[in-house]
Amino acid sequence: MEQISDYLLRYKNFNFPIGFTTADIIDSLQSFEIRDSDVFLVSYPKSGTIWTQQIIISIFELDGGLDEYPNNMEKMPWLEYVENHESYPFRPSPRLFTSHLTPALLPPGLKDKKAKIIYVMRNPKDNIASYYHFSQISSDLETPKSFENLLENSLKGNVGASSWFDHVREWHSKKDQYNILYLSYEDMIVDLKREVTKICTFLGKNLSEADIEKVVEKSTFKNMKEDPKANYQFVPETTIKGDFMRKGQIGDWKNYFTVAQSERVDRVLQEKLGDLSLKFIWE
Ligand code: A3P
Repeated sequence: MEQISDYLLRYKNFNFPIGFTTADIIDSLQSFEIRDSDVFLVSYPKSGTIWTQQIIISIFELDGGLDEYPNNMEKMPWLEYVENHESYPFRPSPRLFTSHLTPALLPPGLKDKKAKIIYVMRNPKDNIASYYHFSQISSDLETPKSFENLLENSLKGNVGASSWFDHVREWHSKKDQYNILYLSYEDMIVDLKREVTKICTFLGKNLSEADIEKVVEKSTFKNMKEDPKANYQFVPETTIKGDFMRKGQIGDWKNYFTVAQSERVDRVLQEKLGDLSLKFIWE
């Protein structure tokens, strides 16, 4: 891995924060054995990862199981992270994994289209605003000198997980190669029950109305914030000095972007993803 700044390593065209993974682990994923029952949640950081984790975990917990793990990070661990990595081949099915990787870095076995992938995307302006805050409270990320500075780095892909635009492009242009459900953070805000139902259908879970309501309840911002298994306050304060559960809204970006900065993102969006006809909800 090549160290490209005080906080970032680069390997196989992708940026990783220091200390989370190794070249050996990333290489080993190319021969990682996928089971048909595996479920992967994939996202660019700050797109609603821990929210979608909570939904998927709550759905699976209705069948019992997963009690042996103390929190959501261990119930649905990051495939690429070093912690517990060696235990993954021995985990009982169904295995739930999270990942911030691009298709090229994930196990090729996913292309058999049996294991399921749920990809969650958030509009890039709220994503950047959320990342801006997170980089101020996380000791693993560089504290931005200013919002302008973070925006600059984001647009160049000089942040963890590289460019949001490349991530979204890679995952949306690979539609036909995977068994994949695309979700958006904004759709989840607008109608959480509808999106939970969509996830259940994709996972082949035929839940009663009452169980769907239970999953929705467990996944509201308010309830997650109070749920010690889901709110990530179990991450030591030396790493995160603040709240993963920050604001949880659409449109907070307006408090950070100038008109010129917002128009700049619009231009890059058009230039890089204009042909994919993605729809974004901005407020
Ligand atoms: P904000 O910083 O805008 O509040 P990730 O999990 O990918 O790191 O994303 C974190 C973002 O998801 C944060 O956004 C966080 O508040 C938001 N989030 C987490 N759980 C949520 C929920 N139940 N409802 C709405 N937003 C949620």
